[in-house]
Amino acid sequence: QQGPAFDVNAMTLTRWVLAQQRTAPSATGDLTQLLNSIQTAVKAIQSAVRKAGIAKLHGISGNTNVQGEEVKKLDVLSNDLFINMLKSSFTTCLLVSEENSSVIQVETERQGKYVVCFDPLDGSSNIDCLVSVGSIFAIYKKQTEGEPTEADALKPGNQLVAAGYALYGSATMMVLAIGKGKGVNGFMYDPSIGEFILTDPNMRIPDKGKIYSINEGYAAEWEEGLKKYVQEKKQPSTGKAYGARYVGSMVADVHRTIKYGGIFMYPATKSAPSGKLRLLYECNPMSFIVTEAGGLATNGTIPILDIVPTGIHQRAPCYLGSKGDVEELLKYLK
Ligand code: AHM
Ligand code: MG
Repeated sequence: QQGPAFDVNAMTLTRWVLAQQRTAPSATGDLTQLLNSIQTAVKAIQSAVRKAGIAKLHGISGNTNVQGEEVKKLDVLSNDLFINMLKSSFTTCLLVSEENSSVIQVETERQGKYVVCFDPLDGSSNIDCLVSVGSIFAIYKKQTEGEPTEADALKPGNQLVAAGYALYGSATMMVLAIGKGKGVNGFMYDPSIGEFILTDPNMRIPDKGKIYSINEGYAAEWEEGLKKYVQEKKQPSTGKAYGARYVGSMVADVHRTIKYGGIFMYPATKSAPSGKLRLLYECNPMSFIVTEAGGLATNGTIPILDIVPTGIHQRAPCYLGSKGDVEELLKYLK
């Protein structure tokens, strides 16, 4: 009896990205190199998230390893991995990380043409209780001559070259949108060969879903329109009520929204008029991906991708998901 067939011609992420590059005659291979460096960071982060090597690392107690050194916090480790891999890819000039208060300039000798904004490990409140977390990234091409400055990162999401996320869930998955109109593709990590395999080609978000996703704990601070909309989802005037799902990790909540349809919301509240999520490395890349998958993303007034940023860590209210659901919400919001 033979075991299951072994695919000797699997479409790995590396291979897929390379094939994309070959279809663009002017491509230099820099984006391929850049995505490979992110892939390496993601592989290392997922290994750390899944606690590979913990027995050796922890000895018998606490957060110090056998040498008595503090074990690096996962978010710090993830940030260091992203920064080091991106710098050493020779394809980036400016980095914006959720973990660093100012922009990171890549040394002149290692500079390339891309600007990358990222959240190396999103879902901080879920790290210690082992609920899904993720990494998010957005890639721009620098449009100016000369030394890179903060202004090179303050571009609206509609100028993105590529965006992606990695979800460290019950499995690890990378989802990528490379270029406007090129769609969204999902790659599942196969730990047995250490490669991401194309499992979800051309991902499309359903036109309408049955799930709403929002932190209802803050409902008292919502605007009236949003209260009415959520009420309508719970006690609809016609049809069935929506299910409620909220992981509290944006990557997990958005990934589910793309797969199953529905709506994810992180609204403005009275005490946080711009909401919580960061425009450059949370709202923009996720909105780019959702839009590429056929969905919508808005701040309640304009498409997220049309917001012109003024600060690298600025926030924006964020409503995204199935086209039918987001359009319905917009009728309720002022
Ligand atoms: P973080 O960058 O500190 O991890 O915060 C971002 C996260 C998102 O992943 C998630 O959508 C949101 O915070 C949840 O916030 P809340 O706990 O207020 O619902
Ligand atoms: Mg974050």
